[in-house]
Amino acid sequence: MKIDVVTLFPEMFDGPLGHSIVKRAIEKDIVEVNKVNFRQFGKGKHQVVDDTPYGGGAGMLLKPEPLFEAMDSINERDPETKKRVILMDPAGKPFNQAMAEDFAEEEHLVFLCGHYEGYDERIRTLVTDEVSLGDYVLTGGELAAMVMIDATVRLLPEVLGNAASAQTDSHSSGLLEHPHYTRPAEYKGMKVPEVLMNGNHGLIEAWRHEESLKRTFERRPDMLEAYDLSDRDKALIEK
Ligand code: ADE
Repeated sequence: MKIDVVTLFPEMFDGPLGHSIVKRAIEKDIVEVNKVNFRQFGKGKHQVVDDTPYGGGAGMLLKPEPLFEAMDSINERDPETKKRVILMDPAGKPFNQAMAEDFAEEEHLVFLCGHYEGYDERIRTLVTDEVSLGDYVLTGGELAAMVMIDATVRLLPEVLGNAASAQTDSHSSGLLEHPHYTRPAEYKGMKVPEVLMNGNHGLIEAWRHEESLKRTFERRPDMLEAYDLSDRDKALIEK
């Protein structure tokens, strides 16, 4: 997979991309990440990328030309790839696991990170997706893009050591993950549930499903609206 991040602060990405699982994915050539500083396409001696809004109002807006020229540079470098161009925008569609799974199928992702009050509306014609990290406003799109890159890259084949672990994540099944335990069997009076130690895989799976369901019902009942509950699940929740 190829990823381009179009940003005024490319060095912000060095930390998250330079450690642990994402770092390893880059080293193994599973993903290639390019940072494009669109300041280079700014106007005039001061390479200006923002301007005041027509009609008045507070704050500055990103001008269209630098972002259009940054996209041109990416298209010239990689004319053949099919690109998904994702605008970081608090007014976009909220990011979730299903979106990360969708992005993980793509050949080339381009993240456009804004700063300041907003974008000139014409910038939206460059993009395929407008995505928000959540219902809060960050100082820029960089942190949002880093989160989306991290959630996407870990889903690429061969990135996680244990291929099964992405499939059992919280959210990938539509339920939160069940509790986990490791040794010791008892710690400060707290015991590991008996069922996990008896080696009966049918019972273990049933226990895990029930705990996932209970946890989701208690913490995130909203998620159950999209989940296909069996009759047995419904009976468990009503209990
Ligand atoms: N830029 C500022 N806030 C943001 C958010 N919540 N999501 C994506 N981009 C943003």
